[in-house]
Amino acid sequence: ALVTSTEMFKKAYAGGYAIGAFNVNNMEIVQGITEACGELKAPVILQVSKGARAYANHTYLVKLVEAAVIENPDIPIVLHLDHGPDFETCKSCIDGGFTSVMIDGSSHSFEDNIALTRKVVEYAHDHGVVVEGELGTLAGIEDEVSHAVGSYTRPEEVEEFVTKTGVDSLAIAIGTSHGAYKFKPEQCTRNADGILVPPPLRFDILEEVSRRLPGFPIVLHGSSSVPQEYVKMINENGGNMPNAIGVPEEELRHAAQLSVCKINIDSDLRLAMTGTIRAYFNEHPDHFDPRQYLKPARANIKALVEHKLKDVLGCAGKA
Ligand code: G3H
Ligand code: 13P
Ligand code: ZN
Ligand code: NA
Repeated sequence: ALVTSTEMFKKAYAGGYAIGAFNVNNMEIVQGITEACGELKAPVILQVSKGARAYANHTYLVKLVEAAVIENPDIPIVLHLDHGPDFETCKSCIDGGFTSVMIDGSSHSFEDNIALTRKVVEYAHDHGVVVEGELGTLAGIEDEVSHAVGSYTRPEEVEEFVTKTGVDSLAIAIGTSHGAYKFKPEQCTRNADGILVPPPLRFDILEEVSRRLPGFPIVLHGSSSVPQEYVKMINENGGNMPNAIGVPEEELRHAAQLSVCKINIDSDLRLAMTGTIRAYFNEHPDHFDPRQYLKPARANIKALVEHKLKDVLGCAGKA
């Protein structure tokens, strides 16, 4: 059924696991994710960004998710707005069938973030929809040196933010970032095999946040692990993605056991889809039916999500 994340997060917190929040942009992505969750009996959050709505159209995305709900009657599914930039976008999703929205006020001042988030929470809660807020900013791939590591969440701010806004969950910044280039090579060390090892996430900040917000669900953005098998597949089939690097899955497993109840993954799906299609085109230069190359792309998205559910998030069998 289409649900809010309230019960999911309660069970995830108590059970020491996390729900996967996967970004969706088209039918094959929705199908790959939900087939994996349906077979493994995992609750799931399907999230739609502003860019996804601009690409695929709000109604198409809502109807694709509604189709997935019908096809997977045994699992709870949340339809969530990812990085809502303003009140109007959140309102449009609340009015248009979403069960959860994020208002991303993290680039505003603390006071403005509170005011904006409070306004969204009031409207959302009146309509039975839950809200994710954010404190701290994630480093972006285009950030200048001064923002190379974003700005970590300040634990001393979280109680006031949660109390004054009434948010249902909180995204925090502990060193992850969006995209396929999460750490610059010069931030990393090399292990014995010459593989880049990124700097560790700030679990001390997560623990201090959770100490101040006992029982409160925390969200991790930028949590793709950038599987090197897919980076290799892309680079060996005409792509060029040097030094693509993600968050080690071991750290995500650890976060999932703690207060983190929602782990956001988008880039890994993109890499699986693009790697698969690039390899397919190289092997079958004469094929031109989109079903031929979208089929293995969808299958590999499904396999990737199965791996996340079982081996990283711990949410398989929790539906
Ligand atoms: O947070 C970013 C997500 O990966 C969505 O990306 O804005 O390109 O759809 P997008
Ligand atoms: P990734 O780029 O690490 O997949 O992060 C996705 C995300 O945080 C969506 O909000
Ligand atoms: Zn994000
Ligand atoms: Na957890």
